[in-house]
Amino acid sequence: MDLMKALYTRRSIRKYKNDPVPKNMIEQLLEAATMAPSASNSQSWSFVVIQDVKLLKEYSDRAKALFLSLTKDKPDPHNYLKILSDPDFNIFYNAGTLIIIYGSDQLTAYGDCCLAAQNLMLAAHTMELGTCWIGFSVALLDQADFKAELGIPQNLTAVAPLIVGYPDFIPSGFSRNPAQVMIWK
Ligand SMILES: Cc1cc2nc3c(=O)[nH]c(=O)nc-3n(C[C@H](O)[C@H](O)[C@H](O)COP(=O)(O)O)c2cc1C
Repeated sequence: MDLMKALYTRRSIRKYKNDPVPKNMIEQLLEAATMAPSASNSQSWSFVVIQDVKLLKEYSDRAKALFLSLTKDKPDPHNYLKILSDPDFNIFYNAGTLIIIYGSDQLTAYGDCCLAAQNLMLAAHTMELGTCWIGFSVALLDQADFKAELGIPQNLTAVAPLIVGYPDFIPSGFSRNPAQVMIWK
């Protein structure tokens, strides 16, 4: 698949087959992620891979509770309160793999990690794997207790949690607004 085709056909996947993604494919995805540009080639990313569906369900429950407690007094235009209050809703959509990209405490780490994440998602798509960025999980993954539990250094910041798996349903996707060019001199 050429790059333009990958850009235009990648979708966020929220329904996965049970087949586990083999280690060598995960390694290919991680390597593709590290091909991203980064400030001064600082490569300020680190990866955590979790391939344990039971553990991911537990993390989902904890992430939902935390997200709800942090946002309960905030405006809720997307009805997250209702979605996240459903005990059957797994924020990781029962995917078998979660890859979390953590950024270092360098100022440019957030940008570096986002670019690595996009590389990973596009590479996965060309390998017929699905991915979805799970923003709902960031608060948990960045909690001091959670990092201590997994042995993740406290100075690292959770940037991009990406679920990976074999798609069981590929949505047609949302349309995009035309690029709003404000100024073109
Ligand atoms: C920063 C970020 C956070 C996201 N968080 C979630 C999430 O928690 N759950 C989810 O189902 N999708 C999440 N998504 C996926 C978006 O909903 C999706 O990219 C968007 O609707 C466009 O659809 P597409 O990826 O299929 O083009 C997130 C995407 C980004 C970039």
